[in-house]
Amino acid sequence: MIALDLIYRMNTYAFELGRIKELAVAELKSLFGDDSVEEIIDNYAIVRTDHTATQKTQDRLGGIIKIIEITEEDTNPPKNPQELETKFKEHIQSILSGYIRTKDTSGKTLFAINAINLPGSSKIFLKNSLIFSKKFLKSSTISSRFINKPWTNTTSAQVYKSKILEKGVEITVLFSPKTNKIFAGKTISIQNLDNYSLRDYKKPKRDAHLGMLPPKLAQIMINLAEPNILEPNKTIYDPFCGTGTVLTESLLMNKDANGSDLQERMTEYSDENCKWLTKEFHTHNKFHTFTKDAILLTKEDVPQNIDAVITEGYLGKPQSTIVPKEQRDKIFGELGELHKGWLTNIHPLLTPGTPIIMCLTAFNIGHDIEHFPEFEQLAKKAGFKILQTFTYSRKDQMIVRDIIVMVS
Ligand SMILES: C[S@@+](CC[C@H](N)C(=O)[O-])C[C@H]1O[C@@H](n2cnc3c(N)ncnc32)[C@H](O)[C@@H]1O
Repeated sequence: MIALDLIYRMNTYAFELGRIKELAVAELKSLFGDDSVEEIIDNYAIVRTDHTATQKTQDRLGGIIKIIEITEEDTNPPKNPQELETKFKEHIQSILSGYIRTKDTSGKTLFAINAINLPGSSKIFLKNSLIFSKKFLKSSTISSRFINKPWTNTTSAQVYKSKILEKGVEITVLFSPKTNKIFAGKTISIQNLDNYSLRDYKKPKRDAHLGMLPPKLAQIMINLAEPNILEPNKTIYDPFCGTGTVLTESLLMNKDANGSDLQERMTEYSDENCKWLTKEFHTHNKFHTFTKDAILLTKEDVPQNIDAVITEGYLGKPQSTIVPKEQRDKIFGELGELHKGWLTNIHPLLTPGTPIIMCLTAFNIGHDIEHFPEFEQLAKKAGFKILQTFTYSRKDQMIVRDIIVMVS
């Protein structure tokens, strides 16, 4: 009975993955459980969960571009290309019919169709299915306009700017050759671009020399420490808080945020940014900042009941060109001392099992990435076990961040 009930309540979604796919998948697995990700189709993760996803779910997922609610599934679609196209159209028509039944279709209805991983030409499929859908809507006396640029899938900026999620419907059909399955559904949420740039560029205190953490990456790091979307960690601590991106993103995710930094100027910046965010976004959680060298933290400094340590840490000086080998070794040596110091120092101050998610410096050396040497041993000596490592890089940036997930 219980199993049946679970199946009945299971929701299926396709999450469009952001630029660093592995990180986005890890973020989903952390929140929804390892078994929740059924398969990856192109840039989309098919997820089965009891959780009902909304724009609120979207807003806390830094690695996810959009969420599609899957309402149509076919486990044995026809092999013949023409019959397969007819099958896809049936699914599109079914979603459009559902839309007509439940939404106000007076005025012009906006719609869009995306084809992911379909066999054959997606241009031809999009052209046929967009024209087919327009005709179908017309047959129901609905005047419509599709927002797809000539026979290509939509971009997230296009979807966001057109407000199609409020004024119409975006349908996505996906095909998995691996499992021979069709999935189709409508988009229920998209990354709020204005909100991210407000957080990134409009906060009162910024420091261009610091190389600030992108809010989306801070969100992913916080989510990597979450055991379950319904049992969130409540108190976050960043011992290298800088201008406070981890703190402000924690507040937005309804967590208490604590931060410290070696430089008083930075703790003041963090404090001011947290005050600004609390007012601007009406958050309710507490925040606290103080000035301290992370190597010298004591029991009295570190807030009680820390659920997770999330930190970008110190990456070394920003670099605009490829760093020569000799200098890279010197930087690794200096950072190694810092990491050994703060990790050894903080270990006895944390409850066993507390996760630490941190960034570790790696170098873009043109043709390759040079990673931090022997960090696993260093972390082990300090009492931590590394669970996962991901690389967050951009072609134009010389300093690469490796994201380390470990537990005390
Ligand atoms: C890369 S910045 C952090 C930026 C931050 N994530 C943000 O979003 O603004 C690194 C920070 O570590 C601080 N720092 C460097 N060494 C430290 C130490 N030993 N103890 C504590 N903070 C330190 C620096 O002052 C700097 O603010």
